[in-house]
Amino acid sequence: MEINQLRTILENLTLEEKIGQLVQLSGEFFSQDKTMIVGPSEKLGIKEEFIPNVGSVLNVIGREKIKKIQSEYLASSRHKIPLLFMGDIIYGYKTVFPIPLGIGATWNPELIEDAYNIISSEAVSEGAHVTFAPMVDLVRDPRWGRSLESTGEDVTLNSVFAKAMVTGLQKNLDEENGLVSCIKHFAGYGAAEGGRDYNTVDMSEREFRQNYLPSFKAGLDAGANMIMTSFNTVNGVPSTGNKWLINDLLRKEWGFEGVTIADYAAVRELIDHGVASDEREATKLAIEATVDIDMKTNCYASQLAPLIEDGGVDLKLVDESVWRVLLLKNKLGLFENPYRGIDNNITIDIDRNFAKAKEVAEQSIVLLQNKNNILPLNSKQKISLIGPYADSKSIMGLWAVYGQEEDCTTIKESIIKRSELKMNYALGTEIIEDVNELGEFGSHSYKGTENTIERQKQLRDQAIKIAKESDVIVLALGEHTLQSGEAGSRTELRLPEVQMKLLDELSKLDKPIVLVLFNGRPLVLTDIVDKVDAVVEAWFPGTEGGNAIVNILFGKTNPSGKLSMSFPFNEGQIPVYYNHYSTGRPKETSNHSGRFVSKYLDAPNEPLYPFGYGLSYSSFKYTNLELSDSQMTKNTHIDLKIEVTNNSDIDGFETIQLYIRDIKGSVVRPVKELKDFKKVFVKAGETVIVNFSIKESQLRFFNQELLWTSENGEFEVMVGTNSKDLLVEKFVLSS
Ligand code: GLC
Repeated sequence: MEINQLRTILENLTLEEKIGQLVQLSGEFFSQDKTMIVGPSEKLGIKEEFIPNVGSVLNVIGREKIKKIQSEYLASSRHKIPLLFMGDIIYGYKTVFPIPLGIGATWNPELIEDAYNIISSEAVSEGAHVTFAPMVDLVRDPRWGRSLESTGEDVTLNSVFAKAMVTGLQKNLDEENGLVSCIKHFAGYGAAEGGRDYNTVDMSEREFRQNYLPSFKAGLDAGANMIMTSFNTVNGVPSTGNKWLINDLLRKEWGFEGVTIADYAAVRELIDHGVASDEREATKLAIEATVDIDMKTNCYASQLAPLIEDGGVDLKLVDESVWRVLLLKNKLGLFENPYRGIDNNITIDIDRNFAKAKEVAEQSIVLLQNKNNILPLNSKQKISLIGPYADSKSIMGLWAVYGQEEDCTTIKESIIKRSELKMNYALGTEIIEDVNELGEFGSHSYKGTENTIERQKQLRDQAIKIAKESDVIVLALGEHTLQSGEAGSRTELRLPEVQMKLLDELSKLDKPIVLVLFNGRPLVLTDIVDKVDAVVEAWFPGTEGGNAIVNILFGKTNPSGKLSMSFPFNEGQIPVYYNHYSTGRPKETSNHSGRFVSKYLDAPNEPLYPFGYGLSYSSFKYTNLELSDSQMTKNTHIDLKIEVTNNSDIDGFETIQLYIRDIKGSVVRPVKELKDFKKVFVKAGETVIVNFSIKESQLRFFNQELLWTSENGEFEVMVGTNSKDLLVEKFVLSS
C-alpha cells in the first residue's frame, strides 16, 4: 500500500482502534468458542469489546487456525487492518534444529543461515509473520535455564550467529517471502544474578556495551525489524520501562526505526519491580520508553486512553507506535493479502529440510572425551544401547513449540535402520526420580510410569544383563526437557541421581562406555568423565537427533563441534568463562606466595572443558604461526598464517580460532578475546595453510570515557583448536 494511503488509515482510526494496534493477545482470545466459563478476557481483565481492536496474535500454530482467526477478525473489523501473527519459532517449525547452544557449537554461520531460511519458509507457509528469534543474549551462567536458547558466552560468536540467523529468517523479506525477525531479550537478560531466571541484572555500562549489547547491534545491522524488551533491570530500571535503553540508546543512538514489543506481561510487571504503583504508571513508563506493543496484559488496553485524555501521555507517542506497527504490516503486504504465505503455495521439501537438520545436528555434536579412541564404533561390535534417551523422542528442547515429537528419530530407531548393526536395548532408568517434580509445560509433561525403587532396580538389572552380553555400552542420559529452558534454573548441574546410579552400576562391568548427553545447558561432568570412555555432547539435537548421533558414533561423520560455553568443574566456580580479566593476583603469574593469589582452596580456576573445546576423530597439529609484521598502525594491518596438519587417516573439519590479548589498557582487558575463526576441511595426512588478518578495529574496546577506541601498545595473538591450547606471537600497535 502507498504510504499516503497508510497515513490516511492511521488518521481515520479512533483512539481505541489505535491503542488496539499496540496490544498483543494469544489465540484463545480470538476463538469463537465462548463456552469457556471464565474466558481468557476475564482472566486478563480485558473488555470483550476491545478484542476486535487488538492488532497482533501470539503463538497460534497452523495455517487453518490462522486463516480462521484472520478471516473472522476482518469480517467483524471496522478498520480492516489485518492481524499480525507472531510466535516463538526459535530453532525450528516442523523441522526442528538443535537448540541454539548446540547451533553455537557448529561455528558455521553459513550453515546456520541456510537452516534459518528453512525455518522461515516452513513458518511463512503456515501463515506466521514474525518470530521471536533469534535470542541473542550472552550467557556465562549455566545455572540459567535459558542458556539453552543462547549461542553462548562470547560476544564475537554471538554476533556472528545473530547476523546469520536474522539474515536466514528475513531473506527476500517482502509481501510473499521471509519471516520478520524479532531479536530478544533487550538487554542483558543472560546476566541474571545467581543464574535465577527473571532475577536482577546489574553491571557497569562498560560491561553492558562491551559484551551484552553487540549481538543485538549485529542483529539489527542484519536488518531485524523488531526487538523484544527483557524482563530484567538495566542500571536499576526494568528494560520495559527504561527510556534510556529503548528510546535514547536503541532508537536515537543506534537509529532503530522498527517495532519494539514487551516480553510476556512485562509492562504490568513494572509494578512487581516496584517502579510503578499501578497499571496506569506502568503504561506511562512503557509507552514513554517507546515500547510499541504490550504483550498479554491489560495495561495499554485499559490505561492508554485515559492517560491521553487527561494529558498524562502525549497522543503523538501512540501515533508513532501505531505508525511503526502499520509500516511493518504494510512491509509484509498484509493489506493486500492478509493470508500471506498460506495462499502462496510455498513448496516445502521436508526431506531436504530434515537432511539439513541432520547436518546441523551432526556439526553441533561435541566430542568431549574419547579414551583409547573407543570411537568410532564399528558394525562388528555388539552394542548395548541403554538409558532414558536411547529411544526417546523428547529430544527437541523446551522451545520447540511448533515441532512434533513423532517426527523425531531416536538413537534406537536410527540403529535399527542400519541392518548391519547389532544392538540390544534397555531403558535402564527413567530420566528423573520423581515423575511429578517438574510439573507440566505445554506438551512437555512427564507422564512416565511410577518410578518406584523396585522398578528402578528392575530396570537397572535389565540393563546390566544386556550390557554384560555386549562389547560396548552406549549410554544415553541427560536432563529432562523441563529442567532447562525458560524458568528452568538449577543450582546443581549434574545428571539426576537415578541416572547416576545406573551409570555407577554399569561402570563396574569393565565394559567400554560411550556416554551420549542430552541437555539444555553446560553440565558438571567432573564425577562422570572417569567412569566412561567417551563423552558425546548432543544437546537437544532436534528432529534428526538420532540419525546425527548414530552417524557420529559409527564414524560416518567426523565430529567437529566446539563448545560455545564453558563446562564448569563445579557449580562453585560459576560464572566461569574464558575471556576473564587477569586480576591483581593471577594464580599463575602473581608475585604473591601460593596462598595469597586468586584461586579456590577446593577447585581449580579453570572449567572442566573450556570455550572452543571439542575433539575430532582426526588429530590436528598446529605449527608455524607467522605474522607479516610485528608492528601495525590504525591504517595498516598484519597478515597472519598458520599451518594445520591432519595427522590421522580420517578427513575432518577443524575450527581454527584466533584470540587477541591487549596486554595493557586504560581499563583492564580480558586475558584473551575471540576475534576470528575459520572452519576448514583438512584431508587425512594433509597440511593446510590458514590465513587471517589483524586490523585495528579488532583491538577496540570501551575506555574510561566509554569511547569505543584502541590504544597503542603490546598485544598477543593466539591461534589454536580451543581457547586454551594456543600458539602465541606478539605485535605492537603504534601511531
Ligand atoms: C516468554 C519469553 C519470550 C517469548 C515470550 C512469548 O516469557 O521470555 O522469550 O518470546 O514469552 O512467548
